Amino acid sequence: MRVMAKSSSVALLVVLLYFRMVVGYRPVLLMHGIADNYKSMEGMVTFIKDAHPGTPVYNIDAFNDADSFLKMWDQVDGVQKKISPIISNATDGVNLICYSQGGMVCRGFIEAFPDHNVKSFISLSSPQAGQFGDTDYLDFFLPNFTRDNVYRFCFSEVGQYVSFCDYWNDPLHQSEYEKCSDFLYPLNSGKQPDYKSNFMTVEELVLIGGPDDGVITPWQSSHFGFYDDKLDVQPYQSQGFYISDAFGLKTLDEEGRIHVYNISGVEHTHWHTNKTVFDLCIEPWLK
Ligand SMILES: *[C@@H]1O[C@H](CO)[C@@H](O)[C@H](O)[C@H]1NC(C)=O
Ligand SMILES: *[C@@H]1O[C@H](CO)[C@@H](O)[C@H](O)[C@H]1NC(C)=O
Ligand SMILES: *[C@@H]1O[C@H](CO)[C@@H](O)[C@H](O)[C@H]1NC(C)=O
Ligand SMILES: *[C@@H]1O[C@H](CO)[C@@H](O)[C@H](O)[C@H]1NC(C)=O
Repeated sequence: MRVMAKSSSVALLVVLLYFRMVVGYRPVLLMHGIADNYKSMEGMVTFIKDAHPGTPVYNIDAFNDADSFLKMWDQVDGVQKKISPIISNATDGVNLICYSQGGMVCRGFIEAFPDHNVKSFISLSSPQAGQFGDTDYLDFFLPNFTRDNVYRFCFSEVGQYVSFCDYWNDPLHQSEYEKCSDFLYPLNSGKQPDYKSNFMTVEELVLIGGPDDGVITPWQSSHFGFYDDKLDVQPYQSQGFYISDAFGLKTLDEEGRIHVYNISGVEHTHWHTNKTVFDLCIEPWLK
């Protein structure tokens, strides 16, 4: 009797293991940040493969280094072409982990392409409500501009050819932003109804960021928070695009599909290499 019970539980275990291997985990796609390349995400590939052996992981080798400064819509289109064979092959959908600017590329892809099948969209320290703060690359490329006047360059036709201008937001120059921003403003304003329906097909929206980031400004932009016109940061629930449910953020929130992680002690350049961050905020959403 005992022997039989034991062997049948071993058999059950074998069946369960086999089932897990057959069902497997959804493919995961990774997109790197600005002034960087796909190799920067290799540590993340290892984290995923160690946690969930057998997961197909596609580390998107596109818009590396200097190319990461190209216009955001061009990056979105290039990434779409690159990943479309993968996503159309993934009948059960895919998960995306997109770091920093990569989170904006992924956001553009999700909103603009109706046939995406993204289940978990993991936005790892990405300025989803915009960036309004100095960065090294701003100082390097536009040394004659400051945070307060760079809108004159960024909110121009020429400026919109530079990736970081495409998600620049200036709380004190909202009319120029609305007129000239051809990436972030369309994504956040919901002026195109299909952007909202495309965005809302994402099952889980995972927003990771924290107060020690040092690059994303305000850091709460990683959670869709942003400055008001007095330069006080307001949470995502107070943003106009949330209140009007412009692109589905409010619906997702009401349905419990937004997962916000506020993590201290992580500088911007460490998010994608931090195992604690992976274990705590990312692994649970890779199903
Ligand atoms: C599509 O899926 C098939 C079967 O699972 C696999 O052999 C093939 O490599 C996949 N193609 C791509 C582009 O992922
Ligand atoms: C930038 O500022 C420097 C010093 O103020 C000046 O010499 C230079 O001509 C300026 N360049 C442009 C492109 O305005
Ligand atoms: C995030 O965490 C920090 C430190 O733990 C805390 O001071 C801050 O109020 C939190 N902010 C939000 C928006 O949750
Ligand atoms: C890794 O993340 C944890 C929080 O999850 C943080 O306390 C720690 O300082 C981080 N380490 C580095 C090197 O960023």
